[in-house]
Amino acid sequence: MGSRYNQMRAVLCLVVVVAMSCMQIRLVSAADPDPLLDNPLNLTSFTLRDIFVNGDVSSGPGGLRAALNTRNFPGTTSEGITVVRFEMVPCGVNVPHTHPRATELLSLISGGPLQVGFIDTSGNAHLDIIRPGDSTLFPRGLLHFEINLGTENATYISALNSQNPGTLNAGASLFRVPELTLATALNTEFSVLKKIAESISPDLTTLEKSSKAHCVPGQVV
Ligand SMILES: *[C@@H]1O[C@H](CO)[C@@H](O)[C@H](O)[C@H]1NC(C)=O
Ligand SMILES: *[C@@H]1O[C@H](CO)[C@@H](O)[C@H](O)[C@H]1NC(C)=O
Repeated sequence: MGSRYNQMRAVLCLVVVVAMSCMQIRLVSAADPDPLLDNPLNLTSFTLRDIFVNGDVSSGPGGLRAALNTRNFPGTTSEGITVVRFEMVPCGVNVPHTHPRATELLSLISGGPLQVGFIDTSGNAHLDIIRPGDSTLFPRGLLHFEINLGTENATYISALNSQNPGTLNAGASLFRVPELTLATALNTEFSVLKKIAESISPDLTTLEKSSKAHCVPGQVV
């Protein structure tokens, strides 16, 4: 009787342990760690003035972008946030890319409209046209882009839920793949790959501009 009872207790314990570890697996998620202190760096200021002057500024044919990060804005340290401001010219393109560690929320302040979109893991393209006051979301890790289809500059802000979202430029990174594999993937010739490789920017952050032949400002597709 006693040994039967102990056996049942052992089985019950095992079930509880397995159930608890399953719960743990469900509860553990890969995100930025929670902050442990209000002010880990003992900062005296939590303001970044003029992101286009003091942020991480880069420009390209498509316009200007300025990002804050933990170096230029230490107040964001361990808070799981990054913000990027854009000033994009008509026909400016933020070329297809992913952020492996963050979801992005893009809000159009003025100008545009922007065509925005992302491709999900089933291969579905989720496309939209957004206007001032609209916000759109790019789920974490998914391939996305935006293009200014309007006749004026588009001013917009992207907020990302990681202090280090990472950016992987789809075109530039694809062309780091050796040509035998790439030619097979794209079902084309080496000569075609070479031509494209020479014409795309190896810079991973520059905003590009669509050619006059392809983009007419104000013509919303
Ligand atoms: C911040 O201040 C606390 C308390 O004065 C101190 O223990 C800690 O070492 C300081 N941290 C830094 C990064 O200076
Ligand atoms: C449009 O944006 C570009 C790039 O940021 C900038 O050089 C230009 O002055 C802006 N034009 C207007 C009218 O604001």
